[in-house]
Amino acid sequence: MADLSVNFAGIKAPNPFWLASAPPTNSGYQIMKAFEAGWGGAVWKTLGVPVINVSSRYGAINYRDTRMAGFSNIELITDRPLEDNLREMEEVKKYFPDHAVIASLMVNSKDEWHQIIKDVENAGADGIELNFGCPHGMCERGMGSAVGQEPAVLKTIVEWVMEVAKIPVITKLSPNITHIVDPGVAAVQGGTDAISLVNTFKSIVGIDLDQYAPYPVVDGKGSNGGYCGPAVKPIALHMLKDLAQHEDISKTPLCGIGGIETWRDVVEFILLGATSVQVCTAVMHYGFGIVREMEAGLTRFMDDRGYKTIYDFAGKALPNVTEWKNLNLKYDVKATIDEDKCVGCDLCYIACDDGAHQAIALPEDGSRIPSIIEKNCVGCNLCSLVCPVEDCITMVRKDEGKEHVTWQEKTEAYEIPVAFNDERAGGRGHYVPNPFEAVKHFKDQKKWQE
Ligand SMILES: Cc1cc2nc3c(=O)[nH]c(=O)nc-3n(C[C@H](O)[C@H](O)[C@H](O)COP(=O)(O)O)c2cc1C
Ligand code: SF4
Ligand code: SF4
Repeated sequence: MADLSVNFAGIKAPNPFWLASAPPTNSGYQIMKAFEAGWGGAVWKTLGVPVINVSSRYGAINYRDTRMAGFSNIELITDRPLEDNLREMEEVKKYFPDHAVIASLMVNSKDEWHQIIKDVENAGADGIELNFGCPHGMCERGMGSAVGQEPAVLKTIVEWVMEVAKIPVITKLSPNITHIVDPGVAAVQGGTDAISLVNTFKSIVGIDLDQYAPYPVVDGKGSNGGYCGPAVKPIALHMLKDLAQHEDISKTPLCGIGGIETWRDVVEFILLGATSVQVCTAVMHYGFGIVREMEAGLTRFMDDRGYKTIYDFAGKALPNVTEWKNLNLKYDVKATIDEDKCVGCDLCYIACDDGAHQAIALPEDGSRIPSIIEKNCVGCNLCSLVCPVEDCITMVRKDEGKEHVTWQEKTEAYEIPVAFNDERAGGRGHYVPNPFEAVKHFKDQKKWQE
């Protein structure tokens, strides 16, 4: 049976499923309830000089039937007194000595950093997370993403922290930056023990059409929020990959955050180099119980593949993430429709005819099953993505797998197109219908034929 326990930069936990610093980690009550439910660690809601929060704090993108596909908040760090948080932290550690309790911190001056680090160490925290991420409110006060966006400042603060910290330090990065490796390298140079990412994305989640103000509306006005939830997962994965592949960062333990909801999400983050993960939005949506599906799914995945610990497959996808120029131009897939599964909805036909390569034909005999015109199909996947029936359209490999030519190799061999009408371009000679075909069913054909 798989062993899910982790030792993340010296922070030990029974599993890699940790709660991110956010409302679910506001109090000792919630964290104990979460540990009881199966979470292996929790990053306490960010501690600092307590703030005053506004009422009306969250907004969301509901996409069709999916509620909270993207989630936005304008909440700040904890508004509870530090002494209450520290007392409860001590309690939690008393009852759950083997679980990871990490104190997220955000203060201003060097003296405040040194003081609060001592405080949380005395309360029994297993680690510290530096919050350089909040893209609202706190950044206006020179903290949060204001630090995350300035690698030199970030490095200085990490150095202040490392001067005194006796427990492992995780630097949590803001994704509101063009090159995530810049603050990543700065954190490593500052001496951090580990990195976590991502915090939330600066965003406007929508506009109230009656009040003409961004959501969440606070007495007729709004501010930018921090965006997270399932919608941000792809960007978080990409940033994680950038850090994990960087030679100055790759040896630093990485904790993946952003849109994690299922065991599959967890595995994907681990495959790109994370050795623990944190979850916020999914817990705010569905509660602590989602960890049971994560645990069962990860265990089964590992048992099926023969992995004993998560370190056996951490980063295993990284060698396969390459630059576009290294992809095989000879790889050739074509769409295939499973006629037994097809429900004749025509979505694939519409998508391919209007949005891709006119490679799907509607039946002319009155039946409902469309067919693939193989010579037109460029293997773009669009039809298989829009088809509402699972595994009805699959992409089948057509080349024999013997040839391998990349753009890079072609460039080196001077075989790439260099002029606008170059014979060597890929789409040359590719079938496209005559433009007139688009209007041949119009009643007023003469107008188009003149
Ligand atoms: C309402 C709310 C409050 C948050 N507060 C904090 C915070 O105090 N400190 C922090 O580091 N991150 C905070 N976050 C960011 C989360 O810890 C996490 O990085 C982010 O939500 C991405 O994870 P998710 O997609 O699982 O939600 C907050 C997020 C939300 C939604
Ligand atoms: S893979 Fe692309 S080109 Fe081929 S049939 Fe589907 S949508 Fe059309
Ligand atoms: S989208 Fe799928 S189910 Fe609908 S017609 Fe095409 S193949 Fe059939």
